[in-house]
Amino acid sequence: MKRIGILTAGGDTPAMNATIHGAVVRANQLKVEVFGLIKGFNSLFNPRVPHVHLNPLYQEIPEVDPTKGGTIIGSSRDYVDPEKKAELDLVASRLEGLGIEGLICVGGDGTLNGLQPLAERLPTVLAPKTIDNDLGLNYPNEPDEWVRIKDAQANHGFRYEQRASQAVFDLEYIVNYVTPGYATAVFVSAGGVERIRTTAESHRRIAIIEVMGRHSGYIALGSAYGRPDIILVPEHPLDLEHLVERVKQLYDLQKNVVIVCGEGIVDNRGRELGAETKTTDPAGNIALSGAAEALRHKFIQMIGDRYFQLYRRGTAREAIFTRKVGHTQRGGRPILFDRFYAAQLGAKAVELLLEGHNNAVATLQYNSKKGFYVDGFDANRFRDRWGYIHARHMYPAFYDPKLMKPSRIGIDYLLPIFTDAIGEDDMEHMRRTLFSQGNLAQPYHSINTDVNKRIRYVAPAGGETDSEIAPAMPDLAKRSQV
Ligand code: F6P
Repeated sequence: MKRIGILTAGGDTPAMNATIHGAVVRANQLKVEVFGLIKGFNSLFNPRVPHVHLNPLYQEIPEVDPTKGGTIIGSSRDYVDPEKKAELDLVASRLEGLGIEGLICVGGDGTLNGLQPLAERLPTVLAPKTIDNDLGLNYPNEPDEWVRIKDAQANHGFRYEQRASQAVFDLEYIVNYVTPGYATAVFVSAGGVERIRTTAESHRRIAIIEVMGRHSGYIALGSAYGRPDIILVPEHPLDLEHLVERVKQLYDLQKNVVIVCGEGIVDNRGRELGAETKTTDPAGNIALSGAAEALRHKFIQMIGDRYFQLYRRGTAREAIFTRKVGHTQRGGRPILFDRFYAAQLGAKAVELLLEGHNNAVATLQYNSKKGFYVDGFDANRFRDRWGYIHARHMYPAFYDPKLMKPSRIGIDYLLPIFTDAIGEDDMEHMRRTLFSQGNLAQPYHSINTDVNKRIRYVAPAGGETDSEIAPAMPDLAKRSQV
């Protein structure tokens, strides 16, 4: 293989550039050219296939920087529809036209589902990323536990349910222990929780902090490092009576309560508290909004004003407030753990392609003797019997529903990831750059401005139209005439 493509798909994470960096460095060593495809699968639907040569003369361009969050080649939630055979053929011929012999997709479970039909046309591998930490298997035979039930309301007429596990759980059998992006998301969320505590204490308030993660409670679990009093995860339906009782006990004792909730938490009938709208993104994911707000309304009704008036704290509405950590948990500089392992996974993805693998996933494994190490898995092992790849839920026993906190095994899961996850350089970087004088005086210089100058397009094949992109060179020529 002399030339490969790389694309980044789905929601961005802080470690995507580190994955690109790892892939490019390994490709340089192996004398393979790497073309970055712009905005994920979107570039493949564009007849002119916008792309950037990431390693001319086998040297990475300076924009490939593992310490920068996001992705220099852009991302989108566009995905390849396996039913559209003609479109797939077109995509394959465009890649062939560019001389791309293998493809690395940096993405999560949606991307792994999306790349299945592409892998029938050219060698394709996945390098994982997602802050949700939901790409992987809690144990190798987990996909066999899914059953499919006819449901007219559900997407494609079926809903999936996971049957009780028959496996003896062992941390060392987890497939893809952790995904790049997760550690930084927890770093931000836990920091936010710690900061909100002092306001809750000073103003005698109850804070409900919502973190991302969709239907998986890993970010909520990890935010335990910020020492909230209560954590709520989507994997365990809410027991509202128990929750309200615990909130009151804590408030009686310390006059403030800090609660973290995952955005996908459900009531005892399995209904998502935060699913205010039924909208979905292009990949079919439900847009979740407002779990914390929904919970606040329940508290206002169940605890009532009188309780707070006894403490001279005004009304329930005044005493209970919500905050979303929001996209700050998905952005910015990745911490050391993410940078280091994302780069290794990028390099592993290149190796998998060059060793002749197709439809494979580079995974990050853990074992107490070796620590973390990268490996390769056949994507088929992630698929249920109908071929679908499910987002991983947090292993339910990582959480203690009575304490509403991580269980002993949940703590054992977190420790290898977060012990020493922050590098000295991470702190030094903040010390040196945040209050730099230049931040006040100079406008922000977006990396996109530099990358845009490197984007190249192919000439559209006969009959294909190019409506979206104006050619870069004639534009420049026009300017130089003025
Ligand atoms: O999957 C990553 C994620 O950040 C989820 O945790 C969250 O629900 C979603 O993406 C938000 O997506 P968007 O940025 O498109 O609103």
